[in-house]
Amino acid sequence: MKMFEFRSMLKEKAKSLDIDSVDIDYLIADVLNVSRTDLVLIDEIDEKNKRKILKLAKKRFRHIPIDKILKHTYFYGYEYTVNENVLTPRQDSEILVDTALDLIKENSYNTLLDMCTGSGCLAVSIKKNVDILVDAVDISKRALKVAKKNAKQNVVDIRFIHSNMFSNVDKSYDLIISNPPYIATDEIASLDKEVRSYDPRLALDGGADGLKFYRKIYENLSSHLNDNGMVILEIGEGQSEDIKKIFSNCSLVSEIKDYNGIIRCLAFKLKERL
Ligand SMILES: C[S@@+](CC[C@H](N)C(=O)[O-])C[C@H]1O[C@@H](n2cnc3c(N)ncnc32)[C@H](O)[C@@H]1O
Repeated sequence: MKMFEFRSMLKEKAKSLDIDSVDIDYLIADVLNVSRTDLVLIDEIDEKNKRKILKLAKKRFRHIPIDKILKHTYFYGYEYTVNENVLTPRQDSEILVDTALDLIKENSYNTLLDMCTGSGCLAVSIKKNVDILVDAVDISKRALKVAKKNAKQNVVDIRFIHSNMFSNVDKSYDLIISNPPYIATDEIASLDKEVRSYDPRLALDGGADGLKFYRKIYENLSSHLNDNGMVILEIGEGQSEDIKKIFSNCSLVSEIKDYNGIIRCLAFKLKERL
């Protein structure tokens, strides 16, 4: 079959289901192991590859997210394995990595804790760019398995700690970063189906008001943050004022907006020992 016809047929079907047709190119390129831009150079598609692509396309037509079908994604220019046990890294979170790298360099920080690491995308991307000791925590053993794989495939050395927040963390750090679950429990049902059904609930549910994990982090700062240390938090849309209140005994170092102009990260340092 002509590649052009095959691609068009799948793209039409995707559009009819309200799915971005560029996803079809991602699937085809992945199976054929070529770049998306090279797809136009391919004249014919053989039966074996056609079957493989159709199998994946059918999953996409059932609204399974593309990264969860391909089992990998890109974040901060690095490749990450993802599966049903981890939140797919979001492009918005790259802002947290940029902010962390700036603060690490400006303050000559030596130690970092990534609380709620999930796929490990934040910890790994930072460690790829600075020589700093990195520990990373998650409560999910299955997520930690993915995070360890991601550290290995990106050739970085990170200590992963299985812990309910700080319960198994015995050190203090120059920098603590976290993108914790921050969706209010009642709002989960109204999330986009692709998020609600395919990202783990454990990665989304931030308790009744979505702020449960920020409170936990705040309560633990005095015992786990070094003098002159900082904490950088990724936050949900509209949560910045509430989180500033929770961290009212800290000084706000910076607030960073995402590509849509929404405050996405807050950085704090301790004013005094809490
Ligand atoms: C929003 S995801 C963030 C994943 C990753 N840091 C990122 O930015 O893509 C939150 C993570 O917090 C973990 N988590 C949930 N409750 C936790 C707890 N009590 N202690 C530690 N980790 C927890 C979840 O398993 C999930 O991997």
